[in-house]
Amino acid sequence: MQVIDTVAEWRKALDAERSGGRTVGLVPTMGALHEGHAALVDRAAAECDVVGVTVFVNPLQFGEGEDLASYPRSLEADVELAASHGATYVFAPPAAEMYPGGRIETVVRVPELAARWDGQSRPGHFDGVATVVTKLFAQAGPGRAYFGEKDYQQLCIVRRLAADLDLPIEVVGCPTMREADGLALSSRNAYLTPGERAIAPRLFTALARGADVLAAGGEPAEARLAMIAAADGLDVIYAEPVDPRSLEPLETALAPGGCARLLIAARLGRTRLIDNLGVTR
Ligand code: PAJ
Repeated sequence: MQVIDTVAEWRKALDAERSGGRTVGLVPTMGALHEGHAALVDRAAAECDVVGVTVFVNPLQFGEGEDLASYPRSLEADVELAASHGATYVFAPPAAEMYPGGRIETVVRVPELAARWDGQSRPGHFDGVATVVTKLFAQAGPGRAYFGEKDYQQLCIVRRLAADLDLPIEVVGCPTMREADGLALSSRNAYLTPGERAIAPRLFTALARGADVLAAGGEPAEARLAMIAAADGLDVIYAEPVDPRSLEPLETALAPGGCARLLIAARLGRTRLIDNLGVTR
């Protein structure tokens, strides 16, 4: 396992791997790695000869007053976890390496998919994500890149940018890893007090209740109400059944065989949590 921190060395290492005929899988992260990230590394290691995990807390995707400064950083432990799950490289560049001079003029935007949900409560967030992911793709030239369904809107945006820009990269979506009580693993769970941690699983309960309503042929409005009722004690930002591709709010009950995605975001003290669940009738 090799740790690299300059774009030049990173590119050189992966060019050599590809020249040797080896396939490259990329796992972009912001570090503070947990078993959710580990599942992406496992999948990449099972499907690719070489696995590159990137660890970069991307300032571009944090808004003013958000947690850029306090975002958990643990490179040593991250390197260990990545290595133990079969990563070949960790690329952990300083911000000046990604954004020389502290700025970037070019922005990658996927405006329609980014407009709703997290894009609405975090203006500019998905421009920052789409731009850094495009840079990470351009630097590494992976054949496959692994993203979690945990960040479902992000996954849709990354798929879309790869398709729109004809990037020769297969974007692989991986299932959300959860605690036994349903709480989706997240680096931000570390912010929760014990009291908050005890009610955080209601996010998942809310999704499950909403899914039950839709699976039984109920109306989207009924599913929304069931979600909000189950999220009692959480400050819900949005709770919505949506079309799984366009992310537009679902307007009618599901026909047999139809599918939807339930999205939820809530504030719990100073922590903002998101989760989602797929449902097929
Ligand atoms: P980060 O939040 O570190 O997440 C990195 C990857 O891990 C994302 O694809 C995310 O969806 C996935 N992930 C997080 N928690 C997961 C869980 N419980 N189960 C499965 N996968 C999970 O997402 C980002 O970083 C950034 O926005 C990034 C794409 C790296 C761009 O900066």
